[in-house]
Amino acid sequence: EKQQLLSPLNYIPADIQSAQDYEYLARRFIAAPNYEYIAGGSGRDQTLASNLAAFNKWAVCPRILCDVTKGHTGFNLLNREYAHPIFLAPVAYQKLAHPLGEIESARAAEAMQSCFISSTLATQSLETIAATGAEAKWFQLYFQPKLEATLDLVRRAETAGYSALVVTVDASIRMPSLGALRAQFKMPDECVAVNVQHYEINPSAEIAANESRIFQGAMREAPTWADLEWLISETNLPVIVKGVLHPVDALKLKNVGAAGIVVSNHGGRSLDGAPASLDCLAAIRAAVGDDYPVLFDSGIRSGLDIFKAIALGADAVLIGRLQVYALSVAGALGVAHMLRLLREELELCMAQTGCATLDDIRNTRLQSA
Ligand code: FNR
Repeated sequence: EKQQLLSPLNYIPADIQSAQDYEYLARRFIAAPNYEYIAGGSGRDQTLASNLAAFNKWAVCPRILCDVTKGHTGFNLLNREYAHPIFLAPVAYQKLAHPLGEIESARAAEAMQSCFISSTLATQSLETIAATGAEAKWFQLYFQPKLEATLDLVRRAETAGYSALVVTVDASIRMPSLGALRAQFKMPDECVAVNVQHYEINPSAEIAANESRIFQGAMREAPTWADLEWLISETNLPVIVKGVLHPVDALKLKNVGAAGIVVSNHGGRSLDGAPASLDCLAAIRAAVGDDYPVLFDSGIRSGLDIFKAIALGADAVLIGRLQVYALSVAGALGVAHMLRLLREELELCMAQTGCATLDDIRNTRLQSA
């Protein structure tokens, strides 16, 4: 028999013991096709699986008799102090999980001293999200078919008080999740990408019979290095590039003036067959040096995972799916609780390994499991 979908709660259910518990509970709050769309990767989900498996290849060795009573998770990034390194990843279409969508996640970020990264494809406008009063907020930018539209988004983000742009470059073209296709996922009518719905699309998008649907079709409007350099020259906001897996690309980004990078494979939703994001981290950190801002996402489900990502070179991490799952269960309260659980899981791991600061984690060598 079909189970009733539950509406978001205004309390934390008693059976949540860890941040990842939201993943399982969310199935009762999100309609099955929508859940498949959120949970799925691309293609045959190989990268989705690698992302998770990569964390299990590492072990963390306990250290004894350390005084960590002055311990904390604070750090500085792009001239701002953060209480902890756990940020909310840009996740599109959050009304799939909660009637108020991004408003609730942004409120949670503010309450938990996190940083909210608003997606270009949010179901609440970037101005509405800013009006929640969330202090630390970045805007994730997808290049639009027309440069005027891209620039308009940038100006709107500047005006609304976003303090950085996160340009996502790994999703110009991708294969949908086969799980979502099988579940006959269709974007619900209330899930509209309101930031971009009024921008004109390119009228000359037709391709000739002898042209490729991929190269001359979808990729015609994809940004290139020249577009990125143009963007960096057009705005005073720091530009962080998301979707970097190759150390050569990372170094090139540093050299063209990107303010930082996000090592990410889009949570396994872009190129299926890409390496696990975690497996790319150490080489990228080595390529760009110790002081360049390197963020990380894809596959984080616990504070232990966060510890490992920092030990392998990340300054901070972004949380994608767990954010949406917690949002579906209890709105802002759920997301805030999920962030708090992740932070406590991280602190627990720090205490048991004698790490009083994030720098201590960075100086910790992981063992192979
Ligand atoms: C995403 N992600 C994403 N990234 C981005 O730059 N812009 C976007 O609009 C979206 N939208 C989006 C929707 C959904 C449903 C998911 C699950 C993910 C990718 C996201 O920012 C992040 O890279 C991954 O989610 C990280 O992996 P985990 O934490 O989900 O394993």
